[in-house]
Amino acid sequence: MVNPMTELALRGAIYTLVADPFLNAASDCVVYEPDGCILIREGVIREVGAYADLRGKLPDDIELRHYPDAILMPGFVDAHIHYPQVEIIGSYGAQLLEWLNKYTFPAEARFVDDDHARRIADFFIDELHRNGTTAASVFCTSAPGSVDAIFEAAQRFNMLLLAGKMMMDSHAPANLVDTAQSSYDDSKALIERWHRRGRCLYSVTPRFALTSSPRQLELAGALMREYSDVRLQSHISEYRAEVARAAELYPERKNYTDIYEHYGLLDERAIYGHGIHLSEGELRRFHETGAKIAHCPTSNFFIGSGLFDIAKTKNEARPVTVGLGTDVGGGTSFSMLQTMSEAYKMAQLRGISLTATQCWYLATLGSAEALGLAEEVGSLQQGCDADIIVLDPRATPLLELRADVAESLDELLFALMICADDRAIAATYVAGERVYERDPST
Ligand code: GUN
Ligand code: ZN
Repeated sequence: MVNPMTELALRGAIYTLVADPFLNAASDCVVYEPDGCILIREGVIREVGAYADLRGKLPDDIELRHYPDAILMPGFVDAHIHYPQVEIIGSYGAQLLEWLNKYTFPAEARFVDDDHARRIADFFIDELHRNGTTAASVFCTSAPGSVDAIFEAAQRFNMLLLAGKMMMDSHAPANLVDTAQSSYDDSKALIERWHRRGRCLYSVTPRFALTSSPRQLELAGALMREYSDVRLQSHISEYRAEVARAAELYPERKNYTDIYEHYGLLDERAIYGHGIHLSEGELRRFHETGAKIAHCPTSNFFIGSGLFDIAKTKNEARPVTVGLGTDVGGGTSFSMLQTMSEAYKMAQLRGISLTATQCWYLATLGSAEALGLAEEVGSLQQGCDADIIVLDPRATPLLELRADVAESLDELLFALMICADDRAIAATYVAGERVYERDPST
């Protein structure tokens, strides 16, 4: 898939996070280069630094693309998203369990049709790129063909994608449930077919404890033991009625987290969506085992699930790694900019003002760390994959007016993450190839 011709240099301002600003001084976390240069070969960042320092090292015949008015940033990493739910985004009036039954399950049932799956998968990948998202952790449906469709679509762009077949054998409609054994067999076949094929990575994907029998969770744990570097994605403690139902279904377990831990599903390869209602003891187990949380604010507001407490979750005494997810179609936007804006507002409601640095971290390096991908993506450092976005801070009249009075980079980046959206993404590069350009004619 890698285009052998790809040697390319990008020039422009460069902004990247290199460490976690929740745990380190901001000045140790940010690298900013007002006139920078990124040298890319075979999809990888070979050199990055000031243009003045690098220009002498560039091969004479290299293609140099100059973005004088833009900021080059790492592509966004969406830590939690459901591609089969694209069509039901913005569905009215239901909270989690009703929303699943009324909108989500019927939409997911349509993915037994491979043509439908391919059509939505192609749309979905294009939409990610239009929004500057270059890597994502994606839930499919219980139909194995839905996994083939999304990996095939991602592979066309050599895009880093984690995905997995939804395992769900209980308390869901008959046209969607699998069995414990079929979910194991299908997941295993998909791992063999897709894991580490190009930039595809497999995530074992039990939907959540409410739709899995004990035997299915046991077999999910077996897959995690058999394949030492596949990931795991699921949901936890999103909504109070869900937490209560989990306790009813698994009365012998101490709490929701203990259900997953008991079946071998809580370790550094695991990422759980939401985690809004986790107790201090559960957060401690997340910290101790290295399990991660995907914070999905647009979804939490929209479905009415509750206010995630990011300060508590990242408590320096026992920090849990947190990434940022859109959770489309419970979430209401593909834009990680909009998602950062909602994360800021949610923290405000808890009396905490996240900094711009913290929010940009969550959407890039934080999500990469939460998915165990920080060596590859989430920052613009030598040796990382060349997943890069070109951000236009003056993309709309309002942003232009706002940028004119911004007195610092921090102020500019903060206003951008609050007010900008897909219109600010001027171009998106995946593994060194431009996969999206906002104004191809200009
Ligand atoms: N919990 C279990 N499944 C889902 C889902 O599809 N979306 C959300 N937001 N929460 C879930
Ligand atoms: Zn979800």
